[in-house]
Amino acid sequence: MKNKNFWEKTFRKNLISQRNFPNEELCRFLGRNYKSKKKIKVLELGCGTGANVSAILHYNMSLTAIDFSKSAIELCKKKYPFKKKEIKFLQLDMLNLDKLEDDYDLIIDVFSSYNLNYEQNKILIDKIHKKLKKNGIYFSYTPSKKSTSWVKEKDKFDGSTLNSFKRKKSPYFGNKGFFRFVSENELKKNFSKKKFKIKYCEKISKTYNNTKEYFEFFTIEVKKIK
Ligand SMILES: C[S@@+](CC[C@H](N)C(=O)[O-])C[C@H]1O[C@@H](n2cnc3c(N)ncnc32)[C@H](O)[C@@H]1O
Repeated sequence: MKNKNFWEKTFRKNLISQRNFPNEELCRFLGRNYKSKKKIKVLELGCGTGANVSAILHYNMSLTAIDFSKSAIELCKKKYPFKKKEIKFLQLDMLNLDKLEDDYDLIIDVFSSYNLNYEQNKILIDKIHKKLKKNGIYFSYTPSKKSTSWVKEKDKFDGSTLNSFKRKKSPYFGNKGFFRFVSENELKKNFSKKKFKIKYCEKISKTYNNTKEYFEFFTIEVKKIK
């Protein structure tokens, strides 16, 4: 609930921190994998202000984009009024993605599922597995446990999730609600070999505070094999 209120407020009052352009790792992923521009069905989890939408539509994909924030969905509908046939924007919690009728070739999570705690994320992965078609792909760009924020913050909800940021220097100080980080071993465990194959797993890092604060993300592509 804390996460939802935080995002609702952010989208109503403060859009400064939101990107206007697609995530670079998502662009790289699309470029690597979708040269043919074949029509495929895509689901974006936590679409926010729709920054990634133009990249997805460039590839001629049909998109369902969900977010639990009403304001985010209203913003997206205003931003893309002319694209009604190709995109559906729906207010929906990603933990309820099983309520969607379709199955998808590709499910995208650009820095969104980190708002779930460890147990909630396990539920999400099961639901993603059910909603992907066979050989469907899950793409995720998500924070790594090597980040200074995970290493130094103390207010932990579980072995992967922060309850809050106490250090004012933290780049995400002021965020409310769960903030989950992941390790490489956990990624391997989460995407069990029986159901998924990890096709791509790389790290992207950046720094803050004149290089004193380290922040790392994983970019992963996972294929549903069974
Ligand atoms: C950091 S923003 C990223 C937005 C977008 N993916 C992007 O790349 O610009 C996180 C987004 O996830 C959404 N979100 C967080 N938890 C969610 C949930 N359980 N269900 C649906 N959306 C959620 C938030 O409302 C917010 O729009």
